Amino acid sequence: MSDLENKVIVVTGGSQGIGAEIVRMLARHNARVVIWDVLEEKAQELCKELTQAGNECMVDAINVADEEMVKAGFEKVINAYDGIYGLVNNAGITRDNVIIRMSTDNWVQVMNINLTSMFLTSKYAVRHMLRQKEGSIVNLSSVVGLMGNIGQTNYAASKAGVIGFTKSLAKEVAGHNIRVNAIAPGFITTTMTEKIAQEIKDKFLQNIPMNRFGNCEEVANVVIFLLSSISSYITGTVINVNGGLYM
Ligand SMILES: NC(=O)c1ccc[n+]([C@@H]2O[C@H](COP(=O)([O-])OP(=O)(O)OC[C@H]3O[C@@H](n4cnc5c(N)ncnc54)[C@H](O)[C@@H]3O)[C@@H](O)[C@H]2O)c1
Repeated sequence: MSDLENKVIVVTGGSQGIGAEIVRMLARHNARVVIWDVLEEKAQELCKELTQAGNECMVDAINVADEEMVKAGFEKVINAYDGIYGLVNNAGITRDNVIIRMSTDNWVQVMNINLTSMFLTSKYAVRHMLRQKEGSIVNLSSVVGLMGNIGQTNYAASKAGVIGFTKSLAKEVAGHNIRVNAIAPGFITTTMTEKIAQEIKDKFLQNIPMNRFGNCEEVANVVIFLLSSISSYITGTVINVNGGLYM
């Protein structure tokens, strides 16, 4: 068991996929989980499941790309719990297309939800963490941010940006006992990857040394590790969870 018991941890995009698995696992570690997601109904269902099992949970329908919402969301968390220990920046989207067919809107949307959101959430979270003199932030990047992918110039740029952001913020706050790390998952089976054409999936499979896609639990395990003090001397890193696809 980790030392996350009673720790207040915000998980963005926590209503489905990798985020929902992170939320469930945090609940098993007896953390106080706050789910921020635009899919409010799904988030409420998950929260209900957790509270019925005796865990503490809170939901807010926050669009992480909206600064006012993010700011107000943290105020609610602080009012409810008096502090915040962890932030998992997991919310993300894809809007794939080759560059000549990619709309500026799809470029901007992906950058706003995948990258600008991390600036917004971290900015307000760090203000509270500085006062508490402790905290851990985990940002979801992607293998695509490291190796690139056809049809994903927007997504790859946002996820590469997450890495530069993570390392810079890690340096800024390391002296205040706040750690910032990133995880770069490979192909993980979720609704996000269900949209990918089978022939592209098959091609990727040929390049994955472990010869299979990953599952949400395998990513959530690393989130727990990075949030808890088991990883107390680790900051500014990017941990690959990709079955060997990129080393
Ligand atoms: N699935 C993979 O193979 C894979 C690989 C690498 C990285 N990732 C990253 O992991 C994270 C989770 O991916 P997933 O596969 O679980 O995706 P998903 O689409 O299943 O879930 C994403 C969640 O984010 C929420 N969300 C989207 N826009 C939002 C916004 N503006 N504000 C708040 N919430 C918002 C969605 O409602 C959803 O609940 C993403 O950042 C993704 O880029 C996933």
